[in-house]
Amino acid sequence: MEVRARVPLKVIISGEHAAVYGYPAVSAAIGLGVRVRAVESDGEGFLIETELDGPGPGRVRARVGASGELSRVSSPGLRRELRYVASAIRVGAREFSPPPAEVRIECEAPPASGLGTSAAVSAGVLAALAALSGEELDRERLRRLVRRVELDVQGKASWVDSTTVTYGGVLSVSGREFRRLECPRDPVLVVAYSGRPSRTGEMVERVRRLVGEVGDVGERVMEVIGEVVSGVERALEEGDLERLGRLLDVNHGLLAALGVSTRELEEVVHALRGAGALGAKVTGAGGGGCAVGVFEDASRAEAAAELLELMGYRAHVTRPSPRGVRISG
Ligand code: MEV
Repeated sequence: MEVRARVPLKVIISGEHAAVYGYPAVSAAIGLGVRVRAVESDGEGFLIETELDGPGPGRVRARVGASGELSRVSSPGLRRELRYVASAIRVGAREFSPPPAEVRIECEAPPASGLGTSAAVSAGVLAALAALSGEELDRERLRRLVRRVELDVQGKASWVDSTTVTYGGVLSVSGREFRRLECPRDPVLVVAYSGRPSRTGEMVERVRRLVGEVGDVGERVMEVIGEVVSGVERALEEGDLERLGRLLDVNHGLLAALGVSTRELEEVVHALRGAGALGAKVTGAGGGGCAVGVFEDASRAEAAAELLELMGYRAHVTRPSPRGVRISG
């Protein structure tokens, strides 16, 4: 038996990091995604094969036992990138008792790009293992399992990534609650990769330390991010892309204040603005990963993406996508 899962990647439009402290965030599934193909096999455990797109790596093969232990990693330097896969297999094996399988994972963005690759890979693996076991897996259960994997690997996680990659759409996520935003004018998004990985667990920990050191000031930055998010929700629901852009610029400044921007991310953000973005910011955990710029029209966005490519950054033009996890086979 063979099954396939397709899971969208996501951008956080506003509210990353503050979300970990209970403030709301607005996120969107995008046109890029992860594909997982699982084929029942005669062997033992799970054979993983993945194309780790990005500077260097390439194809990695590894074996994962039902309790999540990794062995025979073909490029030992990439063990760390496989932690979410191993944890998803451990959780999936416990929940659904799937048969041994070969699992092939393809991702349209580099690992640790800040686009929810970890949550999407986890969702894809879990959904595929459930389907191989003949288990009905509704979206709510899936997002809870994805969050369990995130907590297992990175210690702390909001519900933003697990919810967005599972359900799709433009979402306002507050704690475990979420609602879909109806946007009369969908923004065109340019997502540009800074060339360095973004490690969510490390960045969440770095922000936690900073907030501990600066006390009240850090808390107030989080509070203001929460207010920016409310403004972003209104701007999206009213189709006011200009105001949305201004608010994203403010949000970027606040993320820089939390120490999660980098020289490359600043360069990308400024290049996006210079190329006509209505606003631009770090998206995701930062410290590397991606920035996102909001544009009114696709041709300007294409020109901005070309400019970034000329500067040596990978860039994609995309839009919010209503689709969450899909299973076939
Ligand atoms: C990561 O995509 C977003 C963070 O806010 C962490 C989280 O929400 O779990 C940095």
